[in-house]
Amino acid sequence: QGIITYIVEYYDTVSASSNMDMEDRVSHMEQRLQLQEDEIQLLKAALADALRRLGYCEEQSQGRQVGGAHPTRRSLPASATVAPTKGQGSLHDERLTMVRREMAAESRSRTTSSSSSSEDGYVRMFLRGRPVTMYIPDQQRESYSIDQKVALPERKLKLQWVYGYRGRDCRSNLYLLPTGEIVYFNASVVVLYNTEEQQQRHYLGHNDDVKCLSVHPDMVTIATGQVAGNSKDGKLLAPHVRVWDSVSLNTLHVIGMGVFDRAVTCVTFSKSNGGSFLCAVDDANDHILSVWNWQKEKQLADVKCSNDSVLGAAFHPMDSNLIVTCGKSHINFWTMEGSSLTKKQGLFDKHEKPKYVLCVAFAENGDAITGDSSGNIYVWAKGGNRISQVVSGAHEGGIFSLCVLKDGTMVSGGGKDRRVVLWGHNYRKQSEMEVGDLYGPVRALAEGKPGELFVGTTKNAIIRASFPDSLTPIVQGHTDELWGLDVHPSMEQFVTCAQDKQVHLWDTKSHQPLWSKTIEVQ
Ligand SMILES: *[C@@H]1O[C@H](CO)[C@@H](O)[C@H](O)[C@H]1NC(C)=O
Ligand SMILES: *[C@@H]1O[C@H](CO)[C@@H](O)[C@H](O)[C@H]1NC(C)=O
Repeated sequence: QGIITYIVEYYDTVSASSNMDMEDRVSHMEQRLQLQEDEIQLLKAALADALRRLGYCEEQSQGRQVGGAHPTRRSLPASATVAPTKGQGSLHDERLTMVRREMAAESRSRTTSSSSSSEDGYVRMFLRGRPVTMYIPDQQRESYSIDQKVALPERKLKLQWVYGYRGRDCRSNLYLLPTGEIVYFNASVVVLYNTEEQQQRHYLGHNDDVKCLSVHPDMVTIATGQVAGNSKDGKLLAPHVRVWDSVSLNTLHVIGMGVFDRAVTCVTFSKSNGGSFLCAVDDANDHILSVWNWQKEKQLADVKCSNDSVLGAAFHPMDSNLIVTCGKSHINFWTMEGSSLTKKQGLFDKHEKPKYVLCVAFAENGDAITGDSSGNIYVWAKGGNRISQVVSGAHEGGIFSLCVLKDGTMVSGGGKDRRVVLWGHNYRKQSEMEVGDLYGPVRALAEGKPGELFVGTTKNAIIRASFPDSLTPIVQGHTDELWGLDVHPSMEQFVTCAQDKQVHLWDTKSHQPLWSKTIEVQ
């Protein structure tokens, strides 16, 4: 209804101003159109948020009605967080029993590759093709038998919270949605996290590690790409892209099953044609770049992108037939005509050629902007493959992320110097702040609410930040592979350790670490 009222009002205004001259009227209409678009965006955001809340309420009341039993499972549940059940002393043991049974079931189905050594107190098995060694709890060491058959548990596990963010080795992987949720991924789960309400929802459609993420210009549809994996029974799972709705969490399309070879490491939606193209890069030797009509699940074009690693891909915001890719010692400008993609290499001319072009963004006027491993920002005039402007030494060390804000200013994030720099119009430095060593180099930058940023780091933290120097961590985690976990016998706490030599004690209510310690291993 809001929209309809608006359009009627719009025509009234136009007829009232019939004595304006043509140009004024056109620019007036353009302004109104922009306003309308903003309004629609806001309405969508409000609607998305209302639906998210509704889903949450529904889930809560369902949980209450059913009591102890698990809520009815939908094929792809709009899984809002269920608050931890209090006053159930046996919950902990129950959980452990379930995990043990699952382990036993898993090991039975892989008898050929699982082995146990009671003397040494461990069970070694393959979980989805990966070797895992699990130590038998001391109390069970004597009595544990790998051949003992146990019935499957009646209750199902439901994912409640994801502690972590994959900033270590993935890029362009953090965005704010109109629902007020930030979206990012860890392992095979895509997390939608409302930091103000302390609620997470999860998209669970992937069956192995997610490596890249793109938000459609409608701000609701999301594409995520995954690696090749192994199923429970050891079969190969093909890498692919999933396109899904971030409000309902329903999968809309599955793209490229059987086409991608190793892992989809870049994915991006076009902007100017209503976002109907999707571009993906396969991390195989040839780094195949492919363009898809994702709604029809149809491939439009593909090409060998580069022999070297490809780190970023983006459509030009005003021309959906123009794609920019960047990576090790290259930046390529691709033009799509029918099913062919023609490459123009970026020319560095007299400027320093970087080892890596690490990220690409677009200015309001359509210029491409790159950040590289030498700490330089290059501006590539719209549509061309030549540098038109240079901000040399923008950072000390590499520039891992660039983000153009709604007001036309830009922020850049440094690797070595861990700085977040705000650039005004014409690339004049306006402000900067430094992320603490504890959180590490800047991996990704996302615009938040006005005046607010989200900073993802290579040490797997997400920080809410605003200039000049406000930095609040909202997600923290281990910086390397997780090796151990134990649940506190009576409190809502658990402890984890990882290859990063860190031990964290976690609170399951606040989802934050209560303390952390570095253990020096000799
Ligand atoms: C998930 O996040 C945790 C903590 O941030 C990190 O230690 C782990 O390596 C991540 N998992 C993957 C598969 O990247
Ligand atoms: C990749 O390497 C092959 C063989 O070394 C070469 O023929 C080909 O031109 C290279 N392709 C690109 C896109 O650089």
